[in-house]
Formats: sequence, C-alpha cells, structure tokens
Amino acid sequence: MRAPTRRDSFPRPGLERSLMARRKKIYEGKAKILYEGPEPGTIVQYFKDDATAFNAEKKDVIDGKGVLNNRLSEFFMTGLNQIGVPTHFIRRLNMREQLVRNCEIVPLEVIVRNYAAGTMSKRLGIAEGTQLPRPIVEYCYKDDALGDPLVTEEHIAAFGWASQQDMDDILSLALRVNDFMSGMMLAVGIRLVDFKIEIGRVFDGDFQRLIVADEISPDSCRLWDIETGQKLDKDVFRRDLGSLTDAYSEVARRLGVLPKSNVAKPTLIN
Ligand code: TYD
Repeated sequence: MRAPTRRDSFPRPGLERSLMARRKKIYEGKAKILYEGPEPGTIVQYFKDDATAFNAEKKDVIDGKGVLNNRLSEFFMTGLNQIGVPTHFIRRLNMREQLVRNCEIVPLEVIVRNYAAGTMSKRLGIAEGTQLPRPIVEYCYKDDALGDPLVTEEHIAAFGWASQQDMDDILSLALRVNDFMSGMMLAVGIRLVDFKIEIGRVFDGDFQRLIVADEISPDSCRLWDIETGQKLDKDVFRRDLGSLTDAYSEVARRLGVLPKSNVAKPTLIN
C-alpha cells in the first residue's frame, strides 16, 4: 500500500469534470456518465455524487458517493471476475472512473431477494426482513417512464428482450452473484437483503456471451447490519435515515476497501 498522495484527496469532482470535458459523452444516467473509452469496445464509467430515489422524484447530491461506489463496484466486480463470473469491469482509472467493456444492455433489472423488503413487502404484504424460503429472482423492464414495471419471463420471451437460453444464463449469473455477494457480506457482519444487477451482451465474432454490467454498490443492494439491523444502503437516503456517505463508508471500511481509521472522510488506499 502506498501513502496517499494529493491525487487521492477527497473528492475533486470539479477538476475531474473539466479534464473529462474533452471526451465524447455517450450517455448520462441518474448516477453515472458513460464516455467513449480509449480503445474500441471500451467505455469509461464515471460515478457521480447524485442520488435519486422513487424514479428520480427525490434527488440530492451526496459528497463522496461516487468515489465510494466506484471503489465498491470495482471490489465486487473484481471478485466476481476472479471466481469466474464474467463482468464488464476491466480496471479502475481514478477516483471516480473505471474502464469497462462496452456491451449491449439487456433491458431488464434483475433483482435477487433473500429477505422481503421494499416493493416485495408492499406487493405481497410480507413484513420487511422476513427470510424467504429460497432466493427469489424477479425481472423489471428497464423503462424509467413506466417506472421499471415487474415483468414475467413470458413478457421477456414474447417481446424478444431475451431468449430462453439468455434467461437460463441470466438466472445462473444472478444466483452466482447472490452467493458471492451474500458470502462477502456475511463475512463482515452484513446481511444481503436484496440487490439488482444489469446484464450486458458482448459479441466475440458470431458468439454472444452475457456478462454482469452496470455497477454493484450500496446504491443497488439492501445491506443490513446483522446485529443491529442498521441500514447501510440507499434506503438511508430513500427514508431519510442519516448520512449516506457514513453508511457506504462503513460498508467499504468493513470490506477493507477503506482504511479502518478513516470512516467519514475516506482517504482511499490502493
Ligand atoms: P425494490 O424493493 O423492488 O424497489 P425499491 O428499491 O424501489 O423499494 O428493489 C429491490 C432491490 O433492487 C433494492 O436493493 C434496490 C434495487 N433496485 C435498483 O437498484 N434499481 C431499480 O431500478 C430497481 C427496480 C431495484
């Protein structure tokens, strides 16, 4: 581990944004901006500090969220790559950016649930925190204007969003990510209640493969402290439960992504 340098000082979005202005922006979403990558088939993913909830009805800028999510997503995606779950992640470039493989995003939010919470609790009247008999995988159609409606495999097949073979692969990827993430979290005293992933298609010649894309971070997971039940995820923002940066820093600290001594204002380690 090297000593922190000025480049690591927390955070410098203004300067970084001006350096990035020369690059071609491909897409700006709620929490990330995508730029053309340095080589064909690559993309630069920039993590913003913007937080949104309830389909962007609630918005705020949370100092340092982008830096934490960049590091946490790097951590999870690297681990997944190491156990043979393919992801789009290539390498982290700096505090807010990572280089990823360009892929065609399957228009589904793939949700895996281990405990009832959020919309599942509301829809089915199951108390939040109830352990499910087995992990349950749900699919939502990615369309903000429609509020990402829940769909079944029948819709997915009928509208051609993914083939039956794709669905088999997506289910197996989702369950492998769930096992990996559940284990990583359990090891640091955190319960993985649920999470969302997105899946990308990459083409090697005529051959198509599905990989985990987008991000894996406390923005897209529900994470509860096993002992206290304290929420360490985006529900802190959705439900006004305190400092989101503190919650995400705590996750990063427990996983060893941040040094133990520095919780609130992260000085990042390599
Ligand atoms: P869910 O309970 O369906 O929705 P909400 O977060 O609105 O209560 O979400 C399940 C998990 O998936 C939760 O950890 C948040 C995540 N998720 C996203 O990150 N983005 C999405 O668009 C959706 C639908 C879920």
